[in-house]
Amino acid sequence: MSFDFFNPVKIHFGTDSLKDAGKIAKKYGTHALIVTGKSSMQKSGVLDKLVKILKDEGINSIVFSDITPNPTIDEIDAAAKLAKEKNIDLIIGLGGGSPLDSSKAIAVAAKGNIPVWDYLKIQPKGALPIITIVSTSGTGSEVNRFSVMTNTKTGEKPGFGYECMYPKEAIIDPVIMQSMPKYVTATTGFDVFVHVLEAYTGKISNPIADSYCEKAFALLRESFIAACNEPENIKARSDMAIASALAGLAIDSAGVGIIHALEHPVSGNFPNIAHGAGLAALIIASMELNIKDKTCREKYAKVAHIFGNIKGNKTEEDMAYELIETVKKILSDVGLNAKLKDLGVSEDKLEKISKEAFTTMNFAVLNNPVVLGEKEALELLKDSF
Ligand code: NZQ
Ligand code: MN
Repeated sequence: MSFDFFNPVKIHFGTDSLKDAGKIAKKYGTHALIVTGKSSMQKSGVLDKLVKILKDEGINSIVFSDITPNPTIDEIDAAAKLAKEKNIDLIIGLGGGSPLDSSKAIAVAAKGNIPVWDYLKIQPKGALPIITIVSTSGTGSEVNRFSVMTNTKTGEKPGFGYECMYPKEAIIDPVIMQSMPKYVTATTGFDVFVHVLEAYTGKISNPIADSYCEKAFALLRESFIAACNEPENIKARSDMAIASALAGLAIDSAGVGIIHALEHPVSGNFPNIAHGAGLAALIIASMELNIKDKTCREKYAKVAHIFGNIKGNKTEEDMAYELIETVKKILSDVGLNAKLKDLGVSEDKLEKISKEAFTTMNFAVLNNPVVLGEKEALELLKDSF
């Protein structure tokens, strides 16, 4: 076995840790671009609070609030242009995975002279310093180097990440997450589950990431459903925020698998679909495929143990199959039962989606425990339709 594990992000976790944003930001710049979505951070008052906190420490900020869920390269290029015009020296991502991912891509594009899409192939020379202030517990983008963006002309939605894209510091304040509605809590929380499931069972899984996954599974068992049903439950919100970060660190080194490889083209071609809802539609067929792999089966059995559903004398294989039942129950408890068709995917796009998994997310296909080609991927999509 050999592996690398690296993460340079300074994490500040705690209720009301938002108040430290000014002191933290001051270390990196005085002219900040705050990158956020269209409404949630305005409605909850967090955006206004942040602007004031920064001002109190002498930091001027301007706000770019045109980031949509499943962000596009046009939004990112527009923000990078603004950052250059305004001589921005610091990018602050505020929101869910979409604004956070965008903040990293903007930080890269604002340093260079080419459209952000070109950085998929060309290594950037550097990036402006990035600070993340996360509002969902989901993607793990707050602590990792990845950014995911959609090319609206083609529907392609690749993930990319360079070392210069790690946030310098991440503020994880569970109070900010209390305003998430149930559906956002469910879809983003399910994303955490799939991150740890795929990192734990992937070909490049490693013992450090595994230990993060095991802790995240335990936190999910404890608090996922409570966070969905009791938005203000700060213990549940805190547990989910920590699980999100652990999962984000895990996928940074151990990667994701076929569920993510197929979901990106789903929400790339149908941008109204929430990433976590797409994952939910794809998970059962994917687990039924991956359980055929012996090593994966052993890991599934371990996860089933963490979820504690051991009744009577069960073989490892029984336990692994139990996990699929556990996942079905979680999906039903949090209300994520929609198949791809129910989410608005049209059947004639399935072939395009299966092809794009290999062209835009091949690293995830390769990390999947079971080797599969386009034919098997298409079957999987049809089973999830
Ligand atoms: O857009 P606004 O107005 O901000 O509202 C958002 C959006 O409608 C809302 N929201 C966020 N925080 C809230 C809130 N509403 C109330 N209270 C809050 N505290 O929720 C909606 C979804 O937000 P979004 O940022 O799109 O969700 P998420 O965090 O799931 O991010 C999804 C994006 O991240 C990518 C996905 O593909 C997708 O593009 N991913 C990034 C990864 C990474 N960087 O490692 C890995 C993931 O696998 C994933 O691919
Ligand atoms: Mn994900």
